Amino acid sequence: MAGKFITLEGGEGVGKSTNLEHLRNLLERQGIDFIETREPGGTPLAEELRELLLAERAEPVSSDTELLLMFAARAQHLEQTIRPALARGQWVLCDRFTDATFAYQGGGRGLDWQRIEILENLVQGELRPDLTLLLDVPVDVGMARARGRGALDRFEQEQHSFFDKVRAAYLRRAEAEPERFRVIDAGQSLVRVQQQITEVMSEFFHRGC
Ligand code: TMP
Repeated sequence: MAGKFITLEGGEGVGKSTNLEHLRNLLERQGIDFIETREPGGTPLAEELRELLLAERAEPVSSDTELLLMFAARAQHLEQTIRPALARGQWVLCDRFTDATFAYQGGGRGLDWQRIEILENLVQGELRPDLTLLLDVPVDVGMARARGRGALDRFEQEQHSFFDKVRAAYLRRAEAEPERFRVIDAGQSLVRVQQQITEVMSEFFHRGC
């Protein structure tokens, strides 16, 4: 049986790393065989593309270049890592996926969602995540947390208005696909956030998946 594909999404400073660890523990406790990976990245070549994407540079990066590099990394990641794992029956826990492209390149950069959908279909075919957890916090809270972490990458250096658009786009996607998305209020205490994630995952495990 093919494995399940779970993605974790959210803007900057929403607590993805801490909550990924919690998710990992939940899967381990269920005895599920899974791999953990991330985007952009997840293979040596895709990690090189990640470096290119996140590096600060003097030359302005065109939004289309950014979009195509994201999907170039994704194509590699899918072929080398995600699809083989799912085919072996392993679950895939992925830190960001195509919803991030709709949120950042679509919402943040203002690219047309229909153009992103063309690339999504081209690169992924029918493949979509089975479950997406969206960690949601007000932009001020997330930005303050991210800024406390040290050097900022090319995305983290964006303005408040950019992240307002990213958050709105994520929420719009969650609203459009309530079956796949679970929105976690990540502005609460860590204990409450992890309780919400535990509840979502218990429901998912019991859905007969
Ligand atoms: P990270 O901070 O979760 O490691 O992700 C790296 C950055 O890449 C983050 O600022 C969001 C951005 N990103 C996009 O802009 N589009 C995408 O499709 C993905 C996967 C990430």
